[in-house]
Amino acid sequence: MKRLRVVLWILMLLPGAVFADERDDRYGGQDRGRPLQPARLNPTWAKECSACHIAYAPGLLPAESWRKLMSGLDKHFGADASVTPQENQEITAFLVANASNRWTGAGAPLRITETQWFKRKHSAEEVPAAVWKRASVKSPANCQACHAGADRADFSERSIKVPG
Ligand code: HEC
Ligand code: HEC
Repeated sequence: MKRLRVVLWILMLLPGAVFADERDDRYGGQDRGRPLQPARLNPTWAKECSACHIAYAPGLLPAESWRKLMSGLDKHFGADASVTPQENQEITAFLVANASNRWTGAGAPLRITETQWFKRKHSAEEVPAAVWKRASVKSPANCQACHAGADRADFSERSIKVPG
């Protein structure tokens, strides 16, 4: 009888354990966080990081990515995005504090577009290769070409519109 109870317990716990693993390993652990955008925004980040593209929500990348990116702003994807040391400290603190809280995997890519979650959500089935090359899109980093609410970190399905 006791042994039967133990076996039943194990059987009951098994599916839970399997599901938990699956959730943790989603996108090989390279998952974006929740929420993507904190309720309180940092004005220096909002100003300095939206000069050339949208200010990408901090939850899109893990803390280590933001640290790396912020320590190389003078050579930022071919652009000079330098800020003063104080501004750098302030922006880094904001990004790190609000970075992805679901990133359990290895690696700290500098690009959102190189993360596993991004590649899965934008598979060739969802976005055919030719779409990325359209003049209206130009670059996968140009989120707002398809996500009208990208600057507010709104990527919900109902606000997606892929331009022709
Ligand atoms: C002087 C212009 C400029 C400024 C200012 C700037 N960036 Fe960028 N950023 C770029 C360019 C150019 C790219 C590459 C875009 C592309 O590949 O289409 C880029 C790309 C990025 C990417 C990668 C996007 C991807 O491909 O997933 C991140 C993340 C990023 N910037 C963060 C920041 C942050 C944080 C700040 C503020 C500290 C900032 N940027 C300020 C020019 C700038
Ligand atoms: C060429 C158009 C296009 C561009 C550019 C684009 N996306 Fe998307 N994105 C899509 C489509 C289409 C989907 C819907 C995929 C699906 O239905 O699962 C999507 C899905 C998403 C989702 C998941 C939404 C959800 O509810 O599951 C997120 C988050 C996202 N994109 C973020 C980004 C970010 C961040 C960028 C820029 C770095 C970006 N996207 C650039 C077309 C685009």
